[in-house]
Amino acid sequence: MNPFISGLKDKVILVTGGASGIGLATARVLAASGARVVCADLQQSQDLPQGCEFRRLDVSSEKLTQELVASMLDRYGQIDGLVTSAGISRVGDLESMALQEWEQVLQVNLTGTMLSARAVASHMKQRRQGSIVAIASINGMLGNPSNLAYCTSKGAVIQMVRSLAAELGPCGVRVNSISPGYIHTPMTIMLDEQPVGQAFEAMHLLKRAGKSQEVGNAVAFLLSDMSSFITGVNLPVDGGFSAAKVIAI
Ligand code: NAI
Repeated sequence: MNPFISGLKDKVILVTGGASGIGLATARVLAASGARVVCADLQQSQDLPQGCEFRRLDVSSEKLTQELVASMLDRYGQIDGLVTSAGISRVGDLESMALQEWEQVLQVNLTGTMLSARAVASHMKQRRQGSIVAIASINGMLGNPSNLAYCTSKGAVIQMVRSLAAELGPCGVRVNSISPGYIHTPMTIMLDEQPVGQAFEAMHLLKRAGKSQEVGNAVAFLLSDMSSFITGVNLPVDGGFSAAKVIAI
């Protein structure tokens, strides 16, 4: 059962990566709260909720992103919120990682986030309102020895959000990031039910992985007027993972 987040009714929200995992769960929370949601993704989702429209998008293309935003403005006349959930992960450390994979991860996770924000910014500035929520990661807050490109991209997203908050705040536009802990989604399939996944879960103070909807609820809060004086923050939604160093047992 989705909670109702007040103040989202009829807001128009673009969710990149909205066909799967955290993006899809966020779209469900938003639609259940009365928002009109565009889920933009490389892949089509089988079960988009009512109130959500699918659009194909590669977030690493500036042209396609600008075209999508223009067509949303034609159709809806406004964009109130942006959620950047499109992301990829490629395991690899400094020596084993292929340069092409490093570039691909940065292109989607970092440049893609910037391009989406850039595409909606002038419209939001003109209206002097809008909320942008970037999905970062606890892997952007803490080091991790085997996922160099991903950690780097997410750390950069957190810093980019602070800079965008400084740039857009005077124009009435809020920009925040959320850093999820371990959330069971198609991205984590290789960890789920494995000893390494169980050890990872045990490092969360709540001793479990999170659910996509628990991230979606936090995104909805940051998009809504309930967070109207919050900008420039990185909110961990991580069951306490980043709050304390616990030994996994
Ligand atoms: P997911 O794999 O279920 O969803 C990611 C979506 O992004 C997919 O639908 C995929 O098609 C889309 N996507 C990938 N490249 C794209 C591109 N170039 N253009 C448009 N769409 C593209 O994974 P999940 O877990 O839902 O991830 C969502 C976000 O949350 C990602 O940014 C991820 O890094 C982040 N995250 C996930 C965590 C987890 O434990 N699942 C933890 C922390 C952060």
